[in-house]
Amino acid sequence: MYNLLTQDGKAKRGELHTVHGVIQTPVFMNVGTIAAIKGAVATTDLQEIKTQVQLSNTYHLHVRPGDKIVKKLGGLHKFMNWDKPILTDSGGFQVFSLSGLRKIKEEGVYFRSHIDGKKIFMGPEESMQIQSNLASTIAMAFDECPPHPATREYMQASVDRTTRWLERCKKEMDRLNALPDTINKNQMLFGINQGGTYEDIRIEHAKRISEMDLDGYALGGLAVGESHEEMYRILDETVPYLPVDKPTYLMGVGTPANILEAVDRGVDFFDCVYPSRNGRHGHVYTDHGKMNMFNAKYELDSRPIDENCQCPTCRSYSRAYIRHLLKAKEMLGMRLCVLHNLYFYNNMMEEIRNAIEEGRYQEYKKAKLEGFQL
Ligand code: GUN
Ligand code: ZN
Repeated sequence: MYNLLTQDGKAKRGELHTVHGVIQTPVFMNVGTIAAIKGAVATTDLQEIKTQVQLSNTYHLHVRPGDKIVKKLGGLHKFMNWDKPILTDSGGFQVFSLSGLRKIKEEGVYFRSHIDGKKIFMGPEESMQIQSNLASTIAMAFDECPPHPATREYMQASVDRTTRWLERCKKEMDRLNALPDTINKNQMLFGINQGGTYEDIRIEHAKRISEMDLDGYALGGLAVGESHEEMYRILDETVPYLPVDKPTYLMGVGTPANILEAVDRGVDFFDCVYPSRNGRHGHVYTDHGKMNMFNAKYELDSRPIDENCQCPTCRSYSRAYIRHLLKAKEMLGMRLCVLHNLYFYNNMMEEIRNAIEEGRYQEYKKAKLEGFQL
């Protein structure tokens, strides 16, 4: 159940009540594709860096270790020792981005595993079955993320098929949630809006899926090569056609600036690999822009990454030490940067929630964006 607490302009401050606890929104979901946040991050770390939700991937976990194995072990929560919410992406997007050989048919997608080349078929029913076996808190609908650019004809045909797939997902999820041996009988289902940069296709699709009684609505097929301005335009045009009293999730986005702009347009769920990926490369976020921790200027710098940061890294370690670890390829160097970056994102979301509650989101956004440009 989603509770819209307050709005400041279009910016939404909400709460999503789940069987695994309440998610305070706007929220940034921390990406753990294969049921682990890359950079040797453990559950105990996540309590300290304000993580509310983890995101894992249906496709990856189906290929390895296998969703049936995860089910036998009691589901993803038990398997990875995380009792708070988990959202699983449906596999659609990963099949399209990872698999060279693939064939899209009405029934689903035929492709080869990126691990061992084995032939796999995944359609809406299979995706729901896998996500039900994983027993995530929130399952995503099986969709096609069309390439950018795509012709209008291709886009319309793809979106129509994604709508038919969504109807099949809903039916299958209702069936699975009613089975006696299903681990999470309250699994939620979010639909995904597509349509690329064709605003009329997006709006028509948004209206159609809004009529279906889903637990949340995502915007997919964005941040796939279009400009930031185009993405903001699509949000301006499409979000008003999605239910305001349900979660609004912008998939795979983005930079801190992207998140600030999308919140302003009514989005309240996000996920992105940037903070963990950048952290693994020694690139860290601060309110004054990014820092490259390999830089020679930190050789004798005994200050923390950010003197105002309360993360576990900044409370205990210096820039000089982190630079040394990174240069020596010591795992701890990566880990400390990833923890700082995830804290930076999670903490920014907390600041965003406070600003919306206090009706000062515009001022907050302006000051934050100005800081990044320094
Ligand atoms: N992650 C980023 N974009 C997308 C999308 O369009 N569909 C799905 N399923 N996942 C995504
Ligand atoms: Zn820090």
